[in-house]
Amino acid sequence: MTQTSFTPRVFSGIKPSGGLQLGNYLGAIKRFVGMQGSMETIYCVVDMHAITVWQDPKDLANGTREVAAGYLAAGLDPAKSILFNQSRVSAHAELAWIFNCVARVGWMNRMTQFKDKAGSNAEKASLGLYAYPSLMAADILLYHATQVPVGEDQKQHVELTRDIAAKFNHDYGVNFFPMTEPVIDGPATRVMNLRDGTKKMSKSGESDMERINMLDDADTIAKKFKKAKTDPEPLPETVEGLATRPEARNLVEIYAALDDTTPEAVIAQYPGAGWGTFKPALADLAVAKLAPISTDMARFMADPAEIDRILSQGAEKARAIATPILQKTYDIVGLLRD
Ligand code: TYM
Repeated sequence: MTQTSFTPRVFSGIKPSGGLQLGNYLGAIKRFVGMQGSMETIYCVVDMHAITVWQDPKDLANGTREVAAGYLAAGLDPAKSILFNQSRVSAHAELAWIFNCVARVGWMNRMTQFKDKAGSNAEKASLGLYAYPSLMAADILLYHATQVPVGEDQKQHVELTRDIAAKFNHDYGVNFFPMTEPVIDGPATRVMNLRDGTKKMSKSGESDMERINMLDDADTIAKKFKKAKTDPEPLPETVEGLATRPEARNLVEIYAALDDTTPEAVIAQYPGAGWGTFKPALADLAVAKLAPISTDMARFMADPAEIDRILSQGAEKARAIATPILQKTYDIVGLLRD
């Protein structure tokens, strides 16, 4: 079996911890929706990843529905994509165990996200947080996914997925798991914090002013962009002028991603513009693009039973793909099964 014999298939996931922010939308969901229809697409709410750090059970259930609502409000169509939550398909955990026995401790020690999240107190981090990349590899390889759209911060984990696939194939003398490609494209694969352009926008930053939440109302979105930190210089005449200006570059990239264009085109539209011109234009654009999504998210979240029904049906479709792949993995490894 050669690499080319794998059917093109997309898998990606989002953790339901702490609500969705603009980086999740521009770096992930918007791009996921764009890939829909061109090939088989499988999108997951990775609730088992969320519990690698403490989650209040009620918040976790609501957070899972909120991420599902975000996917749906942004245009994910359950008739075109499989949408489900990870814990409903137990094969993820089962394959992750096998991968725990394939991946090496040295590989996990190199994961920058573990170092960032565990911080200086790694001894107190959960074992799950350490093994997290192995579960992520299982998410992807359980579907023989060939492409994984993610933001820049997940690149190392997708590369590790390839290492796990390669070692499994080599150790067992098979060509069973594909070499998955990370898909990291477009202007917003690393949306930065609005208060510090050298830090990634995330759900867990200290101040709410540093991120746009997908459920922020129009006034809040406009206020946050208008108060975003910048340097005093106006926009440059060409994109090269953004290279050493992280805050300015971030706002231009966000504009480009929201408007489905490129940073070059944004600079061509606003050459030399001052912040008094550009920030209100960005705020208006963001409100025009995001407000309908947050309204729709709220509408979906008002009907949790409907979300649960969609996730349950998605899980059934996911299981139909995952079960034979897990069974074949057991056979390859020599685990007896019914
Ligand atoms: P998570 O939940 O942290 O983020 C979900 C997706 O959003 C992207 N993202 C960003 N993109 C651009 N700029 C930002 N500031 C930003 N913040 C977040 C992430 O890169 C990601 O694509 N480990 C993953 C979840 C996961 C997964 C998977 C992904 C579990 N299994 C299998 C792909 C395939 C995570 O924690 O993403």
